[in-house]
Amino acid sequence: MEYETIQVNKMGPEIGAEISAIGLAGIDLAGELSDQTFAEIDDALVQNQVIFFRDQRLSLEQHIRFGRHFGSLHVHPVAPGIEGYPEILPLHSDDKVQYSASAWHSDVSCDPEPNLGAILYAKVLPESGGDTMFCSMQAAYRGLSDKMQHFLSGLEAAHSSTHVFGPSRGEKDKRPSAVHPVIRTHPVSGKQGIFVNSVFTTKIIGMKPKESEAILQFLYRHIETPEYHVRFHWELGSIAFWDNRSTQHRAIADYFPQTRTMHRVTINGEAPYYKPDLYY
Ligand code: SIN
Repeated sequence: MEYETIQVNKMGPEIGAEISAIGLAGIDLAGELSDQTFAEIDDALVQNQVIFFRDQRLSLEQHIRFGRHFGSLHVHPVAPGIEGYPEILPLHSDDKVQYSASAWHSDVSCDPEPNLGAILYAKVLPESGGDTMFCSMQAAYRGLSDKMQHFLSGLEAAHSSTHVFGPSRGEKDKRPSAVHPVIRTHPVSGKQGIFVNSVFTTKIIGMKPKESEAILQFLYRHIETPEYHVRFHWELGSIAFWDNRSTQHRAIADYFPQTRTMHRVTINGEAPYYKPDLYY
């Protein structure tokens, strides 16, 4: 797509781009954006897999409104949202409470329809540290041999949440689980990407435990390859918007006991599928 209203500054060849408005220093996500700008942001997200905005000042309502342009919003099955704003998930750490999210993951892949993406907004930051890393699952897929790509493409994996969120405490307290293809076709770009992660994936279906564990561990080591990564250094008002269908992320938990508060709005997604590439 030719961009007419936004400028896309790539941060690396595989993943990550900083977005600003053409002819201006920045882009104001709190303001009225045209349909064209939303379409360009959507395209930049799919192409770059995670996009970043600087110097934003969003109220809770504006954060929600911006997210709703990309789909309906997700309410986390376990973690409570901000009072009166269930769609905003506060992620807060200080000297008493430590949330870390420091293992590579894609958000709630245990859901039958995992999130499309998330928009994370920095509210309070430590003096230094607290970066977030993102990994392109499409670059990681392309980094595998043809034989390994072919082998993985027929497989499915189980994703669960009880070992992450703890057992359900009643009828309304849901603990999602699902089976998804190990290689997922992106519904917009058609590109293939690895879709297992160390937080929610429990096993590859139809394999002996040792076989499944060996393959999953191989993939978890493989995605640690720095060439597939971008690392984002937060400033107050920064926003990261990631495509949860083609990336994994992890927070760098190096700032405790300092305070870090982020607000996340998460967009509902669809059931992952695998569609083979066509060779002529
Ligand atoms: C997340 O895992 O959703 C948040 C990552 C972060 O806090 O940097």
